[in-house]
Amino acid sequence: MPQYQIAYSPRLSGEVAVSTAKNAVLPILAAALLTQEEILLHQMPRLTDVDHMLDLLRACGADAVKEGRDVRVRSVAVGSPRESALLRTMRASVLVLGPLLARTGECVLSMPGGCAIGQRPIDLHVKGLQKLGAKVEQEGGVVRAAGALRGANVYLDFPSVGATENLIMAATLTRGVTRIENAAKEPEIADLCHFLTAMGARIAGAGTANIIVEGVESLHGAEYTPIPDRIEAGTLACAAALTEGSVLLEGARTDHMRALLFKLSESGVICQEDARGLRLRGKARHPMEARTLSYPGFPTDMQAPLMAVATQTHGLSVFLETIFENRYMHVVELKRLGAQIRVEGQLALIQGGHGLSGAHVTATDLRAAAALMLAGLAAQGQTLLSDPAGHLMRGYEGLEEKLSALGADVKKTEAPPA
Ligand code: EPZ
Repeated sequence: MPQYQIAYSPRLSGEVAVSTAKNAVLPILAAALLTQEEILLHQMPRLTDVDHMLDLLRACGADAVKEGRDVRVRSVAVGSPRESALLRTMRASVLVLGPLLARTGECVLSMPGGCAIGQRPIDLHVKGLQKLGAKVEQEGGVVRAAGALRGANVYLDFPSVGATENLIMAATLTRGVTRIENAAKEPEIADLCHFLTAMGARIAGAGTANIIVEGVESLHGAEYTPIPDRIEAGTLACAAALTEGSVLLEGARTDHMRALLFKLSESGVICQEDARGLRLRGKARHPMEARTLSYPGFPTDMQAPLMAVATQTHGLSVFLETIFENRYMHVVELKRLGAQIRVEGQLALIQGGHGLSGAHVTATDLRAAAALMLAGLAAQGQTLLSDPAGHLMRGYEGLEEKLSALGADVKKTEAPPA
């Protein structure tokens, strides 16, 4: 069981490279099912979520091979994945639904479970695919989708990232024109569209709320490098802001991080775009207000890491989580470190300026784990972060190594199995 020993670590300094984005790589890997030609992806991040997605592609009949940081996928003959625990544990498994339906005319998929942060239903995915002509049944935790798809106009009641990605992928091989209105605009969706276009898809409006896909007979292979991870970069930026650091995040795309950078700047951090990425200097001092929204609003994935920063500003910060119904589980653990936080429904009131003291804390989800590691950097003494589910390794490529490279006193150890 992975655990991390974190000691008080003021003034991080130096430079680290930002990894390729987990939330771009996962849908792009699913899109590899849309062609029987070879897909070659570069700069793959070393994440267990990526390994799990490769296992899922293999379970669908694809050949998927890692060669250093390259991944090659060839999906000559594919079909629904065999039942596995992986399908129930990895949320992103739902992303093979659209590609398999478009490629083979059917898909039977064990429903991905909810997770700590919320129910994570897939009703918007299902409703959109039904609009494209699929017959979709859900029973006993299994989704069965089948049918010849045809282009249609789809309106998403909520700009769901996953539903937008599934519908775009399904539409690329669907006869006719598909319009997706109120689509999610996250950079990872624009990146998926760029990758699909490299495969020969015909897509307009990538990254906007109105996406138009003209179906084609088939897609060909492609070679591609996905975008940098704006959430990893944001997490590292929060570590700098918390410790009055001076760091360079090499490869960071500041144009994907505007909401976070405005918050950190308002709080007193000097954020500078640099030819090599993003430079940050100084400490977050002033309290913040953050309301999580779909892109380009403040990202829900940054809510927990920024809350760690808010605990050390001088005054009352107010956060409102509007995307997930249960995304404050890091609060109980932050309070074990001495943070003064009160949760009222979807509101969190963070009374900053109280010093933190090391304690034993437990990761409840991916971004909570990151927030607790950051808080440990500002806590006097030693903090032990237990991560029994291995959340951190799912979504961050060696976060402890990158923080250590910036001077943080963070060590990963293996605790004896519970
Ligand atoms: C993606 O999840 C990301 N995951 C999440 O990152 C991210 O937090 C989320 O988008 C929002 O930005 C990946 O890209 C792999 P949604 P996704 O569909 O697609 C509700 C991380 O930490 N909803 O936009 O599942 C849903 O319950 C992860 O890297 C429905 O009600 O997010 C949630 O409340 C966590 N019905 C909200 O919409 C649906 O059919 C946002 O979900 C679909 C979603």
